[in-house]
Amino acid sequence: MSEVKMIGVVGGGQMGSGIAQVAAMHGVDVFLHDLDPQALSKASSSISSSIHRLVSKATLSQAAGADALKRLHFTTDLEDFHMADFIIEAIVESEDVKKSLFVKLDKIAKSSAILASNTSSISVTRIASSTTRSSQVIGMHFMNPPPVMKLIEIVRGADTSDETFAVTKALSERLGKIVITSKDYSGFIVNRILMPMINEAFFALYAGVATKEDIDTGMKLGTNHPMGPLELADFIGLDVCLSIMRVLHAGLGDNKYAPCPLLVQYVDAGRLGRKRGIGVYEYSKEPRSTKS
Ligand code: 3HC
Repeated sequence: MSEVKMIGVVGGGQMGSGIAQVAAMHGVDVFLHDLDPQALSKASSSISSSIHRLVSKATLSQAAGADALKRLHFTTDLEDFHMADFIIEAIVESEDVKKSLFVKLDKIAKSSAILASNTSSISVTRIASSTTRSSQVIGMHFMNPPPVMKLIEIVRGADTSDETFAVTKALSERLGKIVITSKDYSGFIVNRILMPMINEAFFALYAGVATKEDIDTGMKLGTNHPMGPLELADFIGLDVCLSIMRVLHAGLGDNKYAPCPLLVQYVDAGRLGRKRGIGVYEYSKEPRSTKS
């Protein structure tokens, strides 16, 4: 396949809009799709305020900022993706919902297009099995927030071709990211290691070992993590953490991955983290350290 000129991103949430911003800032034309026009308008204003902030800090020139904004197109119509060379799905972490989207993308996308999933833990092989082009399906796992985090974890499904891998790696590097490669086992590399640590922090809180503040300070100052595990769980979303723990538990079949009852209870109570204003911590309307 020749160079990727246009990408489609599905999902106007934090990850999808961050991925679209990164691509537009690195010279790629982007269509960002969401079914909800309000989600798209929120994504559009968060991307433009993030780009304006970079321009005001002189991290990006005025011309580069204006070019990036021109490369971004917002759509509620998935059919607009028929021109895309590369499509990245960044929707809810549910296997059924992802599979039904991939069935649609497989019909809409041109035959040479690669279909990538920003899956956090769900099997790329199983997502690919819902399409007629499993050799052109791959996992492309960005970290949150995509404009800041340096890593992309590429996950090869059972049928992913060498060409699909090479194009995805080249695109990731063009977006300024460092690539690691994982086989398609639950949680891949990062979430297989990160989520049990977060889950263990919930167990420590549940057992009354320490306060939430001391657990977070311990890991921040004791191990130089930018955020403590409970603060990070609020940032990622407790519902996302729980669904990843459930995938690890089901896929790796070991009780050490069983989600902590306190994490389950918080999610049941709707305490989903920053996006809801309450998780392990309570938040005022302005988020504490991210700006989009
Ligand atoms: N978009 C663009 N830029 C952003 C941003 C965003 N959403 N959030 C923060 N930034 C920028 C800021 O503008 C600032 O830039 P500057 O240094 O040039 O001024 C810089 O990042 C630092 O931001 P802040 O000063 O606001 O706040 P912090 O210093 O606390 O940094 C953080 C925020 C980058 C989120 C940092 O706390 C951090 O790295 N936290 C850990 C994040 C992490 O671990 N992510 C991975 C989660 S796991 C995952 O994503 C996998 C998934 O599958 C669950």
